[in-house]
Formats: sequence, C-alpha cells, structure tokens
Amino acid sequence: MIARSIYTENFRNLSPASIEFTDGVNVIGGENGQGKTNLLEAICLFTGVRSFRGAKNNELIAKGEKFARMELQFHAEKRDQTAQLVITDKKQATLNGVKLAAATGFIGKFCAVVFSPDHMGLVKGGSADRRKFLDGAISQQYPAYPRLLVEYNRILAQRNAFLKKSVSTAGFEPMLEIWDENLSKTGAKIACKRAEYINRLCGKTEEIFDGISSGREKISLRYQCGFFRPESERETAEAMRKQLETHRASDLTQGCTNYGCHRDDLVISVNDMSARSFASQGQKRSCVLALKLAEAALLEEAVGERPIAVLDDVMSELDGLRQDYLMNHMDGWQVFISCCDPHTVKGLDRGRIITVEHGKFAAVSG
Ligand SMILES: Nc1ncnc2c1ncn2[C@@H]1O[C@H](COP(=O)(O)OP(=O)(O)OP(=O)(O)O)[C@@H](O)[C@H]1O
Ligand SMILES: [Mg+2]
Repeated sequence: MIARSIYTENFRNLSPASIEFTDGVNVIGGENGQGKTNLLEAICLFTGVRSFRGAKNNELIAKGEKFARMELQFHAEKRDQTAQLVITDKKQATLNGVKLAAATGFIGKFCAVVFSPDHMGLVKGGSADRRKFLDGAISQQYPAYPRLLVEYNRILAQRNAFLKKSVSTAGFEPMLEIWDENLSKTGAKIACKRAEYINRLCGKTEEIFDGISSGREKISLRYQCGFFRPESERETAEAMRKQLETHRASDLTQGCTNYGCHRDDLVISVNDMSARSFASQGQKRSCVLALKLAEAALLEEAVGERPIAVLDDVMSELDGLRQDYLMNHMDGWQVFISCCDPHTVKGLDRGRIITVEHGKFAAVSG
C-alpha cells in the first residue's frame, strides 16, 4: 500500500492543505507542538481503527469548528483509490465514492503499523499497554474485533454498576448470572482471537529478536489469561463464567469485576526471565522493536499487501544500531517518520523531507 497524498480541513491544528508523499521514506520535521503527530494521526485514521492516540472524535476537530474533513489518495489492490472521512460527533467514511456503514469499513483496505514512544510501555508498562497493543493489531486484521471490545466493555460497565448497587438487593443473583453469561460469551471470543494472534506473533518476534541481538538472546511470549482453554471458545466461555461465579463475593465487596479479559496480559521474557523486571534498557527496546516489526510482518501476511509504516518520534528512543536495524528492515516499505531534527537521524537523507510549522506544511526536499 502507498499513501499518495492527504488533504485535511479543520483537523486539529493543521491548515487546510493537500500534502503529497513519496513511495519511500517521508520525514516529517518540525519543532515540538507544530503538527507532526497530527499529520501521522490523520493518515492512520484511514486504517479504520481508532486514533493511535486514543483520541475522541471531538478532539480531532480543530477548536471552534464543527467538523473535520479529510481525503486520502492511496494505491492498494493494484489501483488508485480515494478514501474520505468527515468527522463530527461520529465518523462518516466513503471509499471510492461509496458510503460505508462505519469507518471500520476501511479495515484491510488501507493498513498501517504505528511505532510511537508510547510503545516503549509495552515492556515497562502495565498490562493495559500490552492489551492495547494486541487489540490494535488484531483490529486491523478482523473488522469484527473492535465491535467485540465495545460490546465487552459495555457489559463490563453494566455489571460493575450492578455490583455497586446490588449488595443489599434481594434477588440480584439471577440478574448477575445474566451479566456473567453475556460477559463470558464475549470475553471468550476476545480471548480466542488474542490467543490465536499471540500464537502467530511468537514465531515472528523470536526470529526478529534473534536478528537484533545477533543470536545472543532469546525472547519468548506467553498469553496470560486465567480462563482461556485452547480446546474451544465454548469451554473458554464456561471457564470464564465459572471464574466470575467463584469470585462473586469479592466482586460484590469491591464493587468491580476482578476477572476477565480486561485483566489479560502478554508475558514477555528475555532468556526466560521477565523482561519487565529483569531486561536492560537496550533489551527492552529490542523487545519493543521486535514486537512491532512482527506485527508489521503479520499484517502484511494477513492483507496480502505491505502496510505503510509510521514511526512517530521513535528514532530518538533507539540507539544507532537499532535505528540501522529498523531502517534496513523497512527497506522497500513506505515509511513516515516524524522527528524534530531530521539531520540527527541516520539514513533519512534518501527521504523526502516535509516540515511543519504551526500546522503549515512545506516540502523541503525529495
Ligand atoms: N483539536 C485541536 N484543535 C486545535 N489545535 C489542536 C487540536 N488538537 C491538538 N492541537 C494542537 O496541535 C499541536 C500538537 O501537535 P502535534 O502533537 O502534532 O505536535 P508535534 O509536532 O508532534 O510535537 P512533538 O514534537 O512535541 O511531538 C498543539 O499545539 C496542540 O495545541
Ligand atoms: Mg509528536
């Protein structure tokens, strides 16, 4: 896939303009707070998954405006295509002149792998960071997955609200059983997708990590989920339901649900020791790089086309060796890299440099 150009209007701080890209490396340079990440975010919204910053629709619209409008020209499936997005309190998406029911209709049509400094939290941070990574990666491959997450969170919020007020209400147990049943069914679907994805992710991550560490170290990944049963989705649902039932008393006391997919984790180990507790800074960076490159490889396999790679301010997080590894690995990909000073980043001289100042873009070279 190749993004040819983007037009944005009323999108965050970006001035209305059409910006053209090169097939190779596009470097977005500029001082802090000028609009580099905003541009990358705008491009990535055309993947159909939510903003990689987790932004709500109203945050994407320029302050004081009522809507944002964007258009992306891209090449995929051997043809030039046009995608449009109008953002109000919801997103209206159009692909090649045809209105889509939702922006998730873009999933699989235009794909991106995003590397951001937030991903450093993949190893250092809590389990929520790793679930976010898994959910983002899976969403780009299965259009139905984001809906499962919304559904799960909706039932979870209802169950929690019910737990908070029902301690003293007679006859609450049958009601709770209904929430448990629904939560378990949706939870099992999510757990099975996560397990399947991690299974594929393992091999790729090991292979890439082996390359980054020149065979000196070994990474391993494990899905940590208290109720996942490899036999079937039905057994997984039953195991989750039983877990909820067993811990009902403590859930009621605390007024929240302590078990379920919202507590899953992806355990990352280097040389059989927890990366979070024992890995060095450099090893942690290598883990993140390997995971993200593995995500990119799996997405390419799944959609049968190379996604674009978006590197938001990550070069400064990597040392020279890892920068080289990344740039070599991304050879042949269309890459978007944001950084404050393009001259400090190795290998960017062959790219097209676009600078941004107060939301206004200028092509400097390439
Ligand atoms: N909805 C909005 N309306 C107007 N301006 C906005 C909106 N959302 C964000 N901004 C502005 O966009 C700017 C931030 O842009 P962005 O995050 O792209 O910066 P950046 O160039 O990536 O900076 P850094 O190098 O620090 O990462 C800020 O000045 C912020 O106030
Ligand atoms: Mg930024």
